[in-house]
Amino acid sequence: MLPLQQVETKDDFEMVWPLLVHAMGAADGAHKVRWRESYLKHPAYQLWVLKDGGRARGVIGVRLADPAEITHIAVAPDDRSRGYGTLLFKGVRELKSGLARWYAETDDEAVGFYRRLGFTVEMLPPQYPGVNRYRCEWMDLS
Ligand SMILES: CC(C)(COP(=O)(O)OP(=O)(O)OC[C@H]1O[C@@H](n2cnc3c(N)ncnc32)[C@H](O)[C@@H]1OP(=O)(O)O)[C@@H](O)C(=O)NCCC(=O)NCCS
Repeated sequence: MLPLQQVETKDDFEMVWPLLVHAMGAADGAHKVRWRESYLKHPAYQLWVLKDGGRARGVIGVRLADPAEITHIAVAPDDRSRGYGTLLFKGVRELKSGLARWYAETDDEAVGFYRRLGFTVEMLPPQYPGVNRYRCEWMDLS
């Protein structure tokens, strides 16, 4: 399996930021600073990049807790549907094998991806009219 590399410096964060924004509804300067601070300074938050053929193909951000949260996941538009999203989740589970329960909150566009990975999906009470949100949960049953 392709190894994930942790994003630990400002330079690395700059490199992956264009990928990370694909996992954000809003991504202005304030979001960038907030998430950079979280991923680089807060021990519970970690950001990992998947490189293949010398190129960053996708990123996954996590908040380590029980259950652990997938805070962001994004694959470069040209690289989607090639298994990188699955590899990101499998890779982070392997790295954090002590964590058996994971969840993510997502929208109509990505909920199918979580279903394919075996997450159970529950619709959340709507916060904005016409915008569906889902809580997706995964548990290691092995
Ligand atoms: C969601 C995302 C990370 C999936 O990455 P990916 O590399 O395309 O996923 P994979 O190729 O590993 O797909 C795994 C399976 O999920 C399915 N799938 C992937 N994205 C899907 C989607 N948006 N809706 C429905 N099914 C999807 C694939 O068809 C595949 O099914 P298969 O096993 O039958 O072939 C990617 O589409 C993305 O970056 N989207 C934009 C960012 C985003 O929405 N992030 C999540 C919000 S928090």
